[in-house]
Amino acid sequence: MKKTVVSGIRPTGNLHLGNYYGAMVNFLKMQEEHRCFFFIADWHSLTTHPDPKMLKTNVKNILAEYLACGLDPKKATIYVQSDVKEIAELYLLLNMQAYLGELEKTVSFKDKARKNPSNVNAGLLTYPVLMATDILIHNADFVPVGKDQEQHLEMTRNYAQRFNSRYETDFFTLPQPFNFGQELIKIPGLDGSGKMGKSEGNAIYLIDEPKEIEKKVKRALTDSGVTEPNQPKPDYIENLFTIMRVVSTADVVEHFDRQWNRAEIRYGELKKQLAEDIIKATAPIRTAINDIKANDEYLNHIIDEGADKARQSASKTIREVRQLMGVR
Ligand code: TYM
Repeated sequence: MKKTVVSGIRPTGNLHLGNYYGAMVNFLKMQEEHRCFFFIADWHSLTTHPDPKMLKTNVKNILAEYLACGLDPKKATIYVQSDVKEIAELYLLLNMQAYLGELEKTVSFKDKARKNPSNVNAGLLTYPVLMATDILIHNADFVPVGKDQEQHLEMTRNYAQRFNSRYETDFFTLPQPFNFGQELIKIPGLDGSGKMGKSEGNAIYLIDEPKEIEKKVKRALTDSGVTEPNQPKPDYIENLFTIMRVVSTADVVEHFDRQWNRAEIRYGELKKQLAEDIIKATAPIRTAINDIKANDEYLNHIIDEGADKARQSASKTIREVRQLMGVR
């Protein structure tokens, strides 16, 4: 049976390998068989990136990147969050299911509040409610995301469950996180950190030129090499292997694993291969991004068409929710 799938990406910069392998590869497979909604979370980006000019450019850029990766507007509904005002209404209503104590304890909130203490706004605090709204507005069964979004999904299920029990209904489906490889993925940074991210400044972007990719991989954190066989890999080395597992063939990964276990690892060789494989995986996408970005008329058309389709689904949900809550 066809399932409903919803997922989004904030337009705070270009798509990187984490976005691609954590989310996009699942979008591509899911659009083939399910009822899919993929959107650009521009309201979400206002919590941390309130620059109007940048936002406008980034929305178009991400859309071009979505399409270049292979998202197909004929198969999936591709839209910009702020085009669907029903989301704002449901967000207000769902806020009544969200407890302050829980919101304050959210990992992403604590993280962002710590990084930018001068702008701890209420939007940042209720970020998980807006994300839950994105998902529940289409009553999704599955949400393809990376591991970093797991807690937000759990909160979404809590709000849906609370709503259902308060209004004695089974209206909202409890959505599940989804990854084709079963385990949710986390693509690490090249600087030894746990997560590749735009704000972490450690990302390889789909739009990066081959030379840039080589440079970034060359700079990745390593050490002077391992001296004993069969040692556990330190995190920053394991990170390089994690990226290799998604971009390279199994043979390549085995080859370097063997080198490591025999204490014969040559980081120069590993990095050269890793850069080559990242370039191979991203080069066709980069070309497509540049082509699509040049066609503004086409992008505007996709945005309008997607907004219409998304609104149809959203207005159906909001009508039912109003009725259940007794709101006119
Ligand atoms: P965002 O914009 O940070 O990232 C978009 C998608 O990419 C995944 N991702 C990663 N996956 C693995 N490893 C990484 N290093 C990595 N970095 C990013 C994210 O898991 C995500 O799937 N809150 C969301 C956007 C959002 C959303 C939604 C997602 C808003 N509403 C509703 C799903 C459903 C976010 O900030 O993702």
